[in-house]
Amino acid sequence: VSAPAPVRDLAARLAREDALPAYVYDLTALDAHAARIGAALPPGVEWHYAVKANPDPALLRVIARHADGLEVSSGGELRHAAAAVPGHPLAFGGPGKTAAELAAAVAAGALVHVESPQELRLLASVVRGLGGQARRAEPAVLLRVNLDVPVPASAGLVMGGGRGPFGMDRDGLDECAALLPGTGLRLRGLHAHLASGLGVRPALRAAAGVLRFARRWCDRQAVTEPVITLGGGMGVDYRRPGAVFDWTAYGRGLARLAGTAAARPGETLRIEPGRAVTAYCGWYVTRVLDVKRSGGAAFAVVAGGTHHLRTPAAKGHSQPFAVIGSDDWPHPWARPAVTGAPVTLSGQLCTPKDVLARDVRVRRLRAGDLVAFAMAGAYAWNISHSRFLMHTEPGFHYIGEDVT
Ligand SMILES: Cc1ncc(COP(=O)(O)O)c(C=O)c1O
Repeated sequence: VSAPAPVRDLAARLAREDALPAYVYDLTALDAHAARIGAALPPGVEWHYAVKANPDPALLRVIARHADGLEVSSGGELRHAAAAVPGHPLAFGGPGKTAAELAAAVAAGALVHVESPQELRLLASVVRGLGGQARRAEPAVLLRVNLDVPVPASAGLVMGGGRGPFGMDRDGLDECAALLPGTGLRLRGLHAHLASGLGVRPALRAAAGVLRFARRWCDRQAVTEPVITLGGGMGVDYRRPGAVFDWTAYGRGLARLAGTAAARPGETLRIEPGRAVTAYCGWYVTRVLDVKRSGGAAFAVVAGGTHHLRTPAAKGHSQPFAVIGSDDWPHPWARPAVTGAPVTLSGQLCTPKDVLARDVRVRRLRAGDLVAFAMAGAYAWNISHSRFLMHTEPGFHYIGEDVT
């Protein structure tokens, strides 16, 4: 990949200020990307951003300009999102919600994605405990279904079908529907999230399967103005950085599935992408500390590592990167370098797993050069084991306007 000029310029400035490693978030690019996602979706299809992909407040503020809501998956994310973007609609999902988290969700007016009959009972008891005001507000719920819709083996994380802790079988849904009357809760529809890492066609096939089931089930339960959430999981291909998920084609497919508004009046479809929204706006910028040979292979050791950017270790890929040459070499001895050969970029951790990119051919990489790892805006810093070895944390810098 090549780093855009604003990323290169900021990287050079941060290097001069001795402020690397650092994350650089391109808010201008994110703003344009989020606008394209919104524009690609047909009327009647909403999108919620899955905050777990990257909860950085500056990113949330940009995304909130375009997204219909934010999907949060813990009490912590709920508080954080409500503070970052006050008043923006929230949906609260994820397994194992506590009574305190459910109470906070009801107080915030969030739509709750209920994962099991036990969780529905707990939510109902929380609402009873909150008394009149919460009951009058009639908190809304979607029931999360675990559906056996086939997804391709190439999908990154499969979270639906077969056995798993996510959502419930048909029996669980029916049990919840029977429990609901008199609880003060309003059934709004169904929620599904089947897998991550899907291309356009598998994502549409999964959506069609969810929709077929959900429409029938909601009709049978006489749900008025149903909301059907089709999940996230739109693919990001780290091996082909240019192959960005085709939101326009996906939107066209959703339009076919949604049909005309007149055919299903009051129905809302919703998606909740995370990775494919923020992955591309993030860069992890660092400096090469050393270049050496070991066992006949070239290694470049960079400042930082997978404790800042765990994504390549978590997913088993080489993180795409751009080399930003720097002539700043303060030492009297020759710069160690690798030229026209494969090199493995590893970090400062004492583990062989601390590899950011393996055996990638470079034209030239020298100690003292800068490296900007691309596609570092989702499941990157926030999934990293930053306390391991007690290295300092990266800085955070932004290109473009923060919307406050
Ligand atoms: C319920 C739910 N919705 C949405 C997402 C977002 O998925 P992705 O980031 O792959 O789009 C996830 C990810 O785990 C999820 O569990």
